[in-house]
Amino acid sequence: MSDWQHGFYKLSPAERRARLTAARQLSPAVQQLLTDQASVLGNQLVENYLTDYRLPEGVALGLRVNGTDYQVPMVVEEPSVIAAASNGAQRVARSGGFNAHHQQRALVGQVVLVPHPGQVSADLKWLRAHQADLIAVANQAHPSMKRRGGGAQSVSLRTPGQFISVDLSIDVCQAMGANSVNTMAEAVGRWLSDHGFNVLTAILSNYATSSLQTVECRVDFSQLTTRTMVGEKVANRMAQLSALAQVDPYRATTHNKGIMNGIDAVMIATGNDWRAIEAGAHAYAARDGQYRGLSTWTVDNQQLVGHLTLPLPVGVVGGSIGLNALTKANYAISGIKSAEELAAVTASVGLAQNLAALRALASSGIQAGHMKLQCRSLAVSVGATPAEVPLVTKRLANYQHVDRALAERVLKELRKD
Ligand code: MEV
Repeated sequence: MSDWQHGFYKLSPAERRARLTAARQLSPAVQQLLTDQASVLGNQLVENYLTDYRLPEGVALGLRVNGTDYQVPMVVEEPSVIAAASNGAQRVARSGGFNAHHQQRALVGQVVLVPHPGQVSADLKWLRAHQADLIAVANQAHPSMKRRGGGAQSVSLRTPGQFISVDLSIDVCQAMGANSVNTMAEAVGRWLSDHGFNVLTAILSNYATSSLQTVECRVDFSQLTTRTMVGEKVANRMAQLSALAQVDPYRATTHNKGIMNGIDAVMIATGNDWRAIEAGAHAYAARDGQYRGLSTWTVDNQQLVGHLTLPLPVGVVGGSIGLNALTKANYAISGIKSAEELAAVTASVGLAQNLAALRALASSGIQAGHMKLQCRSLAVSVGATPAEVPLVTKRLANYQHVDRALAERVLKELRKD
């Protein structure tokens, strides 16, 4: 570590920026940018804080879930994501909307033991006999959760490899709950240590199989028709794409990436831990040993039927949710009040996103729809002013292949004209 880095975390953000400026010879423009985007809150949230990294926020419109219409704030940098979510959502809404199942909600706190050789059966027997104690110890560590009607509910035991995993099932009410679960799991870990067990770790598991959310939709063929293909053919090709994602991990990964485009954007806008959701979703996609598409699409009775299940241990309180004013504003925009409602809406956005992507893939391909948005991004990236962006975008749209060099040339020509 270089000298200038020592004690960096103790400095104020302005002092940190000054040290970096000297060490990296940052230009005045970069210094100004870092200063302009800095916030008081950011410095309270992370160590070695410099500035806020901003992402665009937009709103998906026309999403109907269980008979309610939602406007869903989404935070994402990829140009086509919000457009695709709205597009998919509206096609489903015109066919009746999404049907989201009621979510069972519990998190798992995992306390992992290393048993002595030959002791596994005896340890399991002891743990089974002390389940009520384990639950009581967990709840004593977080009495307010119990008072709110949640807390540790049950214990299950697993033996992965040479280990014993004591899985505490914990109801965290409306919260994201990671800190609470860790506190409870660690208390149980200490208690087991005091009773002679060799405790390896005690931590929340992000494989939230007790917080699965399912959403379904039926889409009329007429809603799938494109300029070049009738709806029935699009539906059949979408069903084939879905079948492909069930058997080919290469396609399944991209299929799921499309679903997570929407889910992550909602998670960020609502202050949820999107890395936890990502990790759980992909583990669930590989639950039978092969990585598969999280959603399926089949054709039934002149309609395309979509189905998506994934772990969604979301919260509407806790973490940074109460700290960030924009996060709170996003709850006001969406009208979402409970964790169950958020899980239902989030899964629906994921399926809407997937519908829009597969419809494009099944017909004209993804680039045709992305072209206009890509041209706009290119125009911005080569320095077009807000007034020039639509003009450059329009000119770029006349070309078959667009890239940065072309965008630079087009902007130069426009300025000459
Ligand atoms: C791009 O961000 C997402 C897609 O590749 C998803 C898919 O292929 O299903 C369009």
